[in-house]
Amino acid sequence: CGIVAYIGHREACPIIIKGLRRLEYRGYDSAGVALLNGQLTVYKKKGKVADLEAFIGEQDTHAHIGMGHTRWATHGEPNDVNAHPHYSTSERIAIIHNGIIENYAALKQHLQQQGHVFHSDTDTEVFVNLIEEIQKQNSCTLEEAVRLALHEVVGAYAIVVLSKDNPGQLIAARKGSPLVIGVGEGEFFLASDATPIIEYTNEVVYVNDYELAIIRDGKLEIRSREDVVQTPYIQTLELELDRIEKGGYEHFMLKEIFEQPRSILDSMRGRLELEAGHLNMGGVRAYERKFVNADRILIVACGTSWHAGLVAEYLLEDLARIPVEVEYASEFRYRNPVITERDIVIAISQSGETADTLAAIELAKSRGATIFGICNVVGSSIARATDAGAYTHAGPEIGVASTKAFTAQVTVLTLLAMIVGHKRGTLSDTRLRELMVELSTIPAKVEKALLLNDQIEKIAETFKDVPNFLYLGRGYNFPVALEGALKLKEISYIHAEGYPAAEMKHGPIALIDENMPVVVIATKDSSYEKVVSNIQEVKARKGRIIAVVTEGDDVIPAMAEFTIEVPATSDVLMPLVSVVPLQLLSYHIAVLRGCNVDQPRNLAKSVTVE
Ligand code: G6P
Repeated sequence: CGIVAYIGHREACPIIIKGLRRLEYRGYDSAGVALLNGQLTVYKKKGKVADLEAFIGEQDTHAHIGMGHTRWATHGEPNDVNAHPHYSTSERIAIIHNGIIENYAALKQHLQQQGHVFHSDTDTEVFVNLIEEIQKQNSCTLEEAVRLALHEVVGAYAIVVLSKDNPGQLIAARKGSPLVIGVGEGEFFLASDATPIIEYTNEVVYVNDYELAIIRDGKLEIRSREDVVQTPYIQTLELELDRIEKGGYEHFMLKEIFEQPRSILDSMRGRLELEAGHLNMGGVRAYERKFVNADRILIVACGTSWHAGLVAEYLLEDLARIPVEVEYASEFRYRNPVITERDIVIAISQSGETADTLAAIELAKSRGATIFGICNVVGSSIARATDAGAYTHAGPEIGVASTKAFTAQVTVLTLLAMIVGHKRGTLSDTRLRELMVELSTIPAKVEKALLLNDQIEKIAETFKDVPNFLYLGRGYNFPVALEGALKLKEISYIHAEGYPAAEMKHGPIALIDENMPVVVIATKDSSYEKVVSNIQEVKARKGRIIAVVTEGDDVIPAMAEFTIEVPATSDVLMPLVSVVPLQLLSYHIAVLRGCNVDQPRNLAKSVTVE
């Protein structure tokens, strides 16, 4: 799932290992490097980058060209053999690969008939043997063989290829999986995102789909799959190194939870102009008429971003009176959905690289819909594939479990719903003004919610060993219940379910007994009285209640085992505040259970395969 490569005048191995560490946040289960120095040597190991380093030990790693990979298993279990890089049969070519080759079985059969030998269960090994076979058949250059191979593979890839016979050369290519090239002084850094690159250079080139990058003699050349030379577009990134480091916190996740006052503010900056009394979002302006006239808005996303989409459904229906459907991108893309040219599709993605979301966008585009993207990573594939959009400005999110990206997404979606509602006349001047004022207080309210950290750590002590959790909420707090449950599952491996509080009686209530902790988000909003009744229902069955309430609530504390008080705000904005204690609760439970909070098992930060 992570790619790093280097070609230049420095020692490649330390740069690659450090780069792999920077990419650890993406999630992986094995790691490897290949070094080109007369010989083409591969070291690879199941486990963490540290295991790989121990495995390399004192070996001579001197080389100025090399590549490294962290693998998140798709084809074949995580083990040493399936780890990348993979050699071709002759061991003269090596490859690293992100993505999935869908027609690998047919290719493999053909290659076996030609005498190629396979050691792993991966589709990647098929790719490298295909290159070798093409080179042999056509007696062509490596570059040509790679290019021809790209015409034969179906699926997604970002690859880097090294060959013993081409000692000064590195070839990379991409379709559907991200690949960035950092351009230094006579040296180049390749990676699946910019984090391993920025400590060396902030000049980068994003490789596009169906492009090859050939680096030799200190020069970068980009060619299309049809072999037409392309002009590389060099961009300057504004990413500071300290934003991708832990800055004194024990985990990235905790750092990111605590960054939320700032990331929410950054996501509003320049958009919420309180004194001037207006809202302003560049990406919306050009599409204002489309939004105002939209019959319907479809939202596509995955994971936590899908939860932000659910909040947006409430927001857009409430404030802008536009019907909204929120879709899992993975379902949407295969469902033959009804999409018209009058639809607006909002795609939400932290990484901007999620394969399912990207595919959903392409589908909606092909049916004529207008696509509005909400991404956190500047220059990401989704940001580039959409007609217009707004960045979330949360800064790099490294912890696999998404926290600050969620609140930044909800902030941007709130602004969007306010702008569109006001333009459509469904949100009055007065109500708009009230919401603007209230929204501007949210960073301070989140700051206050963060003071609950110690109290929540104690609550976590009580529940750290339970096997199940239930999360309940209604209205705007329903998506928050889902997100709270997801956070707990992801990092503590405790089974948790989020439910609309009133729907509980249609099933989950059967689970409730004296062992079942139930987190109820019961802030003072229009459904407060109803939620209080739901709490009674849980209590009557001896469930253990952890309630998130509005400060000063004097009813619920008498009913709950634990009460967490958050600052009051409007119903509409409550998710931004009420999610914070749930993030902290899952964090502390995971830490107390000894889990790897920043890199939970089996998960990847950005899932670039379907
Ligand atoms: C992965 C991550 C989740 C994330 C989801 C969507 O599953 O582990 O944290 O919410 O992908 O990612 P995106 O980058 O599209 O928001």
